[in-house]
Amino acid sequence: MRTFVTAVVGATGAVGKEMIKILEERDFPVKELRLLASERSVGKAMSFRGQEIPVSVLDENSFAGVEIGLFSAGGSISEKFAPIAAQAGCIVIDNTSAFRMVADIPLVIPEVNPEAIADYKNKGIIANPNCSTIQMLVALKPIHDVAKIKRIVVSTYQSVSGTGKEAIDELELQTRQLLNMQDPTIQVYPHQIAFNCLPHIDVFLDNGYTKEEMKMVNETQKIMDKNIAVTATTVRVPVFYSHSESVNIETEKKITATEVRELLRKAPGVEVVDDTANKQYPLAINAASKDATFVGRIREDFSIPNGINLWVVADNLRKGAALNAIQIAEILTDKYL
Ligand code: A2P
Repeated sequence: MRTFVTAVVGATGAVGKEMIKILEERDFPVKELRLLASERSVGKAMSFRGQEIPVSVLDENSFAGVEIGLFSAGGSISEKFAPIAAQAGCIVIDNTSAFRMVADIPLVIPEVNPEAIADYKNKGIIANPNCSTIQMLVALKPIHDVAKIKRIVVSTYQSVSGTGKEAIDELELQTRQLLNMQDPTIQVYPHQIAFNCLPHIDVFLDNGYTKEEMKMVNETQKIMDKNIAVTATTVRVPVFYSHSESVNIETEKKITATEVRELLRKAPGVEVVDDTANKQYPLAINAASKDATFVGRIREDFSIPNGINLWVVADNLRKGAALNAIQIAEILTDKYL
């Protein structure tokens, strides 16, 4: 079996650490693992298959001999280094928003549009969608195939780990400070995140939406169907891991809640948790560290003829980022290399 020299760019970050874990768990055919981060991480080492692998500083020469590069060190790092890596013959799977909307760069969710991976040849780069888009489309694709979704209205409840390791530390610190009657240290977000909800993820755009909200609109249209109308409100909540979403859809064909439940029970990557009589529905704390996208509270929207409401929860660092990227890498190496 062929094995691959694999690099994780941003190896010390929240997503990078998860990538290393998942490469090991799924026994990805790694020939050699290179871990790359900033000068701040010089001297650190991370464990992989029982070995301590030192972290190296990312630079222009980091990609000699690297065949697959998993990037999660921020958009500006990807913008600069992904083309350098691709030039050196490394196929980049990029977790940032840097290339998602570039027309000839594929944007892939393996359960939704795996065929797009073939277009890796265009630029040597495959983009991994935004965490909120991934879990929403894993849940909606089976419904779209049967009943054709016309419009999506989504509100998100996104955990701080989506921002990165500094935000995880900030929620913990602020919680401790507030419970000890101290003023909270506010550094990562514009406002206190502990015991609060911030309707503000990424930057505000001229149209009044945030960039995160427009990612959900544009990425859904690129990945699933350019004709779907999407409107989103994205909210940061004081949860460490897993994003939750309230998703309302309007379909062309009538579909009942029972039919949706049946469809999703058979859908790849989905687990239905929908037993309200026993108070069972998807919860962020139960989705953390799991691979599935959990769907529950499935019910008809009686305010329109063909409407469905769902509650969709997934681990944003796994299915929303690292796992999705590694599933892409698995298909790439199995089918194309
Ligand atoms: P480092 O730990 O050395 O700062 P997170 O999203 O959790 O904040 O993690 C960001 C990841 O991106 C970390 O691994 C971080 O490394 C890495 N990173 C940030 N800036 C750079 C840079 N200029 N060069 C290389 N890696 C970077």
